[in-house]
Amino acid sequence: MCEHCKEKFYITTPIYYPSSRLHIGHAYCTVATDVMARYKRMQGADVIFLTGTDEHGQKIETKAREAGVTPQQFVDEIVEGPKGVKDLWKLMNISYDRFIRTTDDYHVAAIQKIFKAMYDKGDIYKGYYEGLYCTPCESFWTESQLVDGKCPDCGREVQPAREEAYFFRLSKYADRIQALLETPGFLEPASRVNEMINNFIKPGLEDLCVSRTSFTWGVPVDFDPGHVVYVWVDALFNYTTALGYMNDRYDDFDRFWPADVHFIGKEIVRFHSIIWPAFLMSMDLPLPKKIFGHGWLLLDGGKMSKSKGNVVDPYLLSERYGVDALRFFLLRTFPFGTDGNFSNEALINCINVDLANDLGNLVSRTTAMVQKYFGGQLPLEQLEDEQKDDELITMACELCHLYREQMEKYAFQNALAEIFKVIGRANKYIDENEPWKLAKNEENKPRLARVMYNLLETVRICAGLLTPFMPATADEIMVRIGADDRSWESMAFFGTLPRDAKVQSGPALFPRIDAAKELEELDKLRAEAQKPAPEADPLPEPLPEIAFDEFAKVEMTVVKVLACEKVKKSEKLLKFQLDDGTGTPRQILSGIAKYYEPETLVGKTLVAVTNLAPRKMMGQLSCGMLLSAERGDKLHLLMLDDAIPAGSRLC
Ligand code: MSP
Repeated sequence: MCEHCKEKFYITTPIYYPSSRLHIGHAYCTVATDVMARYKRMQGADVIFLTGTDEHGQKIETKAREAGVTPQQFVDEIVEGPKGVKDLWKLMNISYDRFIRTTDDYHVAAIQKIFKAMYDKGDIYKGYYEGLYCTPCESFWTESQLVDGKCPDCGREVQPAREEAYFFRLSKYADRIQALLETPGFLEPASRVNEMINNFIKPGLEDLCVSRTSFTWGVPVDFDPGHVVYVWVDALFNYTTALGYMNDRYDDFDRFWPADVHFIGKEIVRFHSIIWPAFLMSMDLPLPKKIFGHGWLLLDGGKMSKSKGNVVDPYLLSERYGVDALRFFLLRTFPFGTDGNFSNEALINCINVDLANDLGNLVSRTTAMVQKYFGGQLPLEQLEDEQKDDELITMACELCHLYREQMEKYAFQNALAEIFKVIGRANKYIDENEPWKLAKNEENKPRLARVMYNLLETVRICAGLLTPFMPATADEIMVRIGADDRSWESMAFFGTLPRDAKVQSGPALFPRIDAAKELEELDKLRAEAQKPAPEADPLPEPLPEIAFDEFAKVEMTVVKVLACEKVKKSEKLLKFQLDDGTGTPRQILSGIAKYYEPETLVGKTLVAVTNLAPRKMMGQLSCGMLLSAERGDKLHLLMLDDAIPAGSRLC
């Protein structure tokens, strides 16, 4: 088929905040999106599956500060670093086509253009943001957000404050948004429509504050320095910039926009079904065809969150049970639209019942019997006709259609249930036909061959339809039953497996887990992970107060390291030659040899106390002291921005 006649399908996940490591709850949405993308590709559609990271905002800025790194370094580590976001998606076999980071240059430039275009149109205007401000947290709150009248984050007093800010005329679009929400199929599950209308539209849509001045880690408003674009404007437009909207990094916007579906979690439905369409209306762009707000994966009845210490590590689970088992569990156990309670018991039970018992057994019994009774290849000439097996064959034939009906509704759990009905029927078919008895009599060989062929065909169709959920497992099954044709069309027909396909048996696909032992083991691991971090080294005793005059007597000067070497016969001392701005190098000895390799310090900008009386150490003169910070067994020299010239005085 020509590229342009192909069905196109554009599907997205939310872009994740890299403020901490992702957990199994984040993987839930990404796995569902991956399943849908693979399903559509299997049908021959031209698919773009987009995911990424939403990297701006105050939260990231604060976390980076706490970690002592720049915001960019902080997000780079979580997104690209070991066990970061990209590593996790690789581990989970996520077949995204595009990964956007909102710090990507092309996206930043596009957001500036979009913001300006909405401003020029009059949809963004300058006003004042008024609210209750918490100074230490640099956050505005509304009365209803306060806890006991105090800041909900830090519990301190808040003050009324007002700040210059840009606003988006959300109110202007209220009628159109309401009509959109009421359009059948736009927002699903349908239960979320009333929630949006009753909670947000009926009380009256207020204009939205779309810029901030209290922090800097964001896309700068290029025509008004000091303002950064509100993180949700920056984030939502990722769905279009990643296709090339307002940039020339990509060129797929005309073909792929509007999105076929945005998969998102229920708490961000408001942003996607109200604010996002209003932004698009403002830019005169078509609206996404569907927003699907899935439920949360809960742990012990509550949302997973790092602060509650109850996050579940997808690395650990994949390592113990395999990626396919985990992917399968997530979509088999919980209906996609509603919340589901994650538990280790449920996971182990799902693996034991569905995967080890039903699917695993069917595959191993079938392949082992073809191996044992026919040496791995059914006899072409000896295949009895199929009249007696109507029920199994009809179920296998209808499966593709029933599965498709559910997949098109994003009812993953139901689609899998259809497959497992057929798997269950096939296992029963083995028990009914008792191949081990048929094998005892040569006369029964044609019947035995027919029974085995029917089983192989049923396995082929089930494995084919399981491919989007468990790609590696489905592949392995197809190899074992010798199926070469894995096309979507072949899954709607019974009888496409060559009668003489080469079948091989293999180890159990999903070994049974001893649930009691495993749960005990997991409890131990959980307790280990929840152990409080070792206590930080105690703070040093405070020193007595001094008068400013006393402090002012200390001369602290910016110095650059010209040379640095170990002092012979000393394990502790490093000898520095320093540029202190006077033109004459200054020599200082410092007892930090165990913390630094001397050559790594050359060129660094440090701080020295330069009016200390000189003293001799190991026979060498030291004219001053380098400032460093010490806590426990760690020491760090005070290093400054290299742009500060040598000789500058600290004050
Ligand atoms: N950055 C925003 C999204 C911007 S999209 C333009 C964001 N990021 S997030 O990292 O906090 O959450 C990303 C997604 O993960 C959300 O859809 C959220 O619902 C989902 N989940 C986070 N924890 C979850 C569970 N425990 N269970 C299911 N999904 C969960 O929001």
